Amino acid sequence: MKVAVLKETFPGERRVALVPTAIPPLLKSGLEVAVETGAGSAAGFSDDAYRAVGAAIVSRDEAFAADCVLAVRTGGACGAGWCADRDRLRPGVVLIGMCDPLSAPEACREAADRGATLFSLELVPRITRAQSMDVLSSQANIAGYRAVLLAANTLPRILPMMTTAAGTLTPAKVLVLGAGVAGLQAIATAKRLGAQVSGYDVRPAVKEQVQSLGAKFVELPLETGASETAGGYAKAMGEEFYAKQRELLGKVVADSDVVICTALIPGQRAPLLVTAEMVAKMRPGSVIVDMAAERGGNCAGSQPDETVVIGGVTILGPTNLPAEAPAHTSQLYAKNVATFLAHLVKAGLPAVALDDEICRDTLVATDGQLVHPKIRERAGLPPLAAPAPTAG
Ligand code: NAI
Repeated sequence: MKVAVLKETFPGERRVALVPTAIPPLLKSGLEVAVETGAGSAAGFSDDAYRAVGAAIVSRDEAFAADCVLAVRTGGACGAGWCADRDRLRPGVVLIGMCDPLSAPEACREAADRGATLFSLELVPRITRAQSMDVLSSQANIAGYRAVLLAANTLPRILPMMTTAAGTLTPAKVLVLGAGVAGLQAIATAKRLGAQVSGYDVRPAVKEQVQSLGAKFVELPLETGASETAGGYAKAMGEEFYAKQRELLGKVVADSDVVICTALIPGQRAPLLVTAEMVAKMRPGSVIVDMAAERGGNCAGSQPDETVVIGGVTILGPTNLPAEAPAHTSQLYAKNVATFLAHLVKAGLPAVALDDEICRDTLVATDGQLVHPKIRERAGLPPLAAPAPTAG
């Protein structure tokens, strides 16, 4: 089977789906690997580095002629570039990448219409067996780290306490809202930089994790018993819950120099945790990094990829933090995608067995049909009569 890696086309995207070190194991397993010219250059991997490990360097059209095409962003996640790529798809080609299927079901449908088999890596289930394929976690981890560096660089203070001959500087207070993958890494990073760190999450289970990083867990007197799904994600709560939460969070936010917002409910608008009134009560010079800006934001006033200053408080809404450390995020992504590919091959790619949870949950389109029930629903299509036992 021929596998090809695309050069990313989304503006500002510097990652690449496979790094050179990920390629030898794939060749050893019997796959042929091709890489589009310049695919790794923005992440620091030259064409020669790929050639040196045995990959062929090819044009984009040649890449699309492979049996299986790998990308970081495809479908609805790759912006305007999708139009040209969509027309390169031929029946039976397997396309693997992040395609933002819940927000952009139309692009998935277009891939289905062209007969492509599309696997969405955002849909990898959060189960132990699939941990090494979980791109959302591997990328959010680095994003949490970068969010703190961004805040530290923007803040007119330093993060650690410093005792000097000219006086003592008190540590900055950092509050992290949402202690999932990105949040826990943000907590750990802020701690390492010497800040006084607190973390908050609706899922009571994360209290211990926050504390084990040496941060304070902010406990709010809210009923949170049903806040977690079986899949380990947060559930959407009612508006009454969110209103009470904002009221209780107000004081903690006002006393923070930095707030990192990472609260997420998969596939939904991000919950609003920091209102305009709460921002107004913060000290001038304070910084908010809203990692959820692309999904509507956890903080009122945040704008995707913009810096907004309200009453002296700087609100940043970076939407692609993983692309700012592309060598490492690509290395982790490559491990995820290579493990996923090996799993699919074992499951019989291109006709994967759908009794396997990982294959079933990630398969969006095959045989000319949108087959993922949730994505069909988002695309306004009726459920399929009977799920096929295999795909391809
Ligand atoms: P995750 O699912 O691991 O963590 C999200 C956390 O938010 C969960 O622990 C959840 O319990 C918590 N949460 C949900 N509702 C809450 C509420 N009302 N109050 C407090 N906590 C609440 O997700 P992950 O992977 O850590 O991603 C977090 C966010 O970062 C997402 O919005 C994601 O889209 C974003 N992200 C942004 C990037 C960027 O470059 N801006 C890059 C990677 C992720």
